Amino acid sequence: MEAVITLLPGDGIGPDVTACARRVLEVIADKYDHRLVFAEQLIGGAAIDATGDPLPARTISCCEAADAVFLGAVGGPKWSDPKATLRPEQGLLQLRSILGVYANIRPIRIYDELVDASPLKAEILKGVDMLVIRELTGGIYFGKKTRDEKSASDLCTYTVHEVERIIRVAAEFAQKRRGKLCSVDKANVLETSRLWRDVTNRLMAAEFPDIEVETLLVDAAAMHLLSRPADFDVIVTENMFGDILTDEASMLVGSLGMLPSASLGDSTRGLYEPIHGSAPDIAGRNIANPCAAIASAAMLLRHSLGLEAEAMAVEDAIGGAIAAGARTVDIAADGEPCVSTTAMTDEIIRCLS
Ligand code: IPM
Ligand code: MG
Repeated sequence: MEAVITLLPGDGIGPDVTACARRVLEVIADKYDHRLVFAEQLIGGAAIDATGDPLPARTISCCEAADAVFLGAVGGPKWSDPKATLRPEQGLLQLRSILGVYANIRPIRIYDELVDASPLKAEILKGVDMLVIRELTGGIYFGKKTRDEKSASDLCTYTVHEVERIIRVAAEFAQKRRGKLCSVDKANVLETSRLWRDVTNRLMAAEFPDIEVETLLVDAAAMHLLSRPADFDVIVTENMFGDILTDEASMLVGSLGMLPSASLGDSTRGLYEPIHGSAPDIAGRNIANPCAAIASAAMLLRHSLGLEAEAMAVEDAIGGAIAAGARTVDIAADGEPCVSTTAMTDEIIRCLS
């Protein structure tokens, strides 16, 4: 097959890990006889520096013309002045909105060899395999913001339509998995959450009566994620709760550097990004963990290009490299030898063949 992929390396370790994801995709293209065409564009702080805009028009048109978009990371101290009017993160939020990728899929899968990388007890981690589905283009992230000398506000809005479409995506994933859906909200306090819960209960009863539905308040969910993580199959939640709960869930796996994501809308064109940030302190030092980026590339192969066998080959290769003992510094045990970003990628590529 032929496909065009727009790469947005962004800031900090974004370029380091994007290069690794690209190498793996090139190996896959070669091995399975596909033609993948890559185009690199600017986003985030790098785009502010070069053009004065965190999401230049050229980046938007290139993403809209692509079959899939891969993003490294955005942000960093250079652009974090609270008084700054331009922020790298605006570029990413705008891009998610323009591409209409309202469903952010974040799989949390434990690698047996890495149980010691997690601060949690091994017996709690046994059997953990969940998908967190985060609503990505609504809620408090996108509501009107105000600021004056004495106060500030961020408006949180959800429409019935926005809730229905994300719940349907989550329920469809649950149908293909263990048939369990946990919807997380704060319905004891927030009106948007009461709408979310009403819509969820009505839609699930009408359209997915076979799926087991559980509802949790977000504070309780944060606790249950640590006390009984293996019970969860698919978790669905609003934008901000999903952001927070997935960083928490990364500690089940042991490192943010392991968690990929796919952001999907109504077409096959998706946006793929590791869930970690730009980690400016380790940028350019060839020590960042490329696994989250490479696993995001696997999701790109699966969800945008329909290449399931290729996606599984990449995921198996990541598992293979870990089983063979390759560890970047974030997942190495005390005193265990570490490999570089590029050496980890070499090992994953070796496991591909
Ligand atoms: C994420 C990140 C982003 C978010 C930031 C960089 C805007 O934390 O993808 O989880 O909050 O969505
Ligand atoms: Mg986040």
